[in-house]
Amino acid sequence: MKKERNCLSVITLSLVLTLFCNYAIAQSSKAKPWIPPTSVNQLKNPLAQDAAAPKEGKKLYITYCAPCHGNSGKGDGIASAAVNPKPADHTSVAVQSETDGALFWKMTEGRGPMISYKQLLTETQRWQLISFIRTLGKKK
Ligand code: HEC
Repeated sequence: MKKERNCLSVITLSLVLTLFCNYAIAQSSKAKPWIPPTSVNQLKNPLAQDAAAPKEGKKLYITYCAPCHGNSGKGDGIASAAVNPKPADHTSVAVQSETDGALFWKMTEGRGPMISYKQLLTETQRWQLISFIRTLGKKK
């Protein structure tokens, strides 16, 4: 009798644990709003008037960003199916309405499947990417 009860409590306990883990995983993969510190909105793209910046940015984008965000920035890159949350659509109104500073900050810090580009890309390269991302909003 005692043995049966022990067995039953083990089953109950593992059931509770499984449910809890599923819940925790579901919560952590839910897209949470990503809000940068407001101070970064003041940052201005030093290359805003540089006509070559979007072209340089595009090259970097194809190499570093397109695997997830796609060549056209729609978030449909080859690796996008495997990442959670999904890569952002850079052509979307939501992304295009963010400030240059906010996008620069997000790219610098990274979050979830997207790594930080602070070490990998220079500040100039990151601003070139911003210049390129801005061209994605115009093409529609
Ligand atoms: C491994 C896949 C991956 C790569 C590579 C990647 N990203 Fe992302 N990116 C993501 C994901 C996933 C998100 C959404 C992150 C979140 O909301 O937690 C994201 C979000 C962003 C955002 C924020 C958009 C918003 O909603 O405000 C920007 C900006 C961005 N990426 C730029 C870039 C740039 C520029 C590169 C290349 C230098 C890059 N990403 C490379 C996966 C990737």
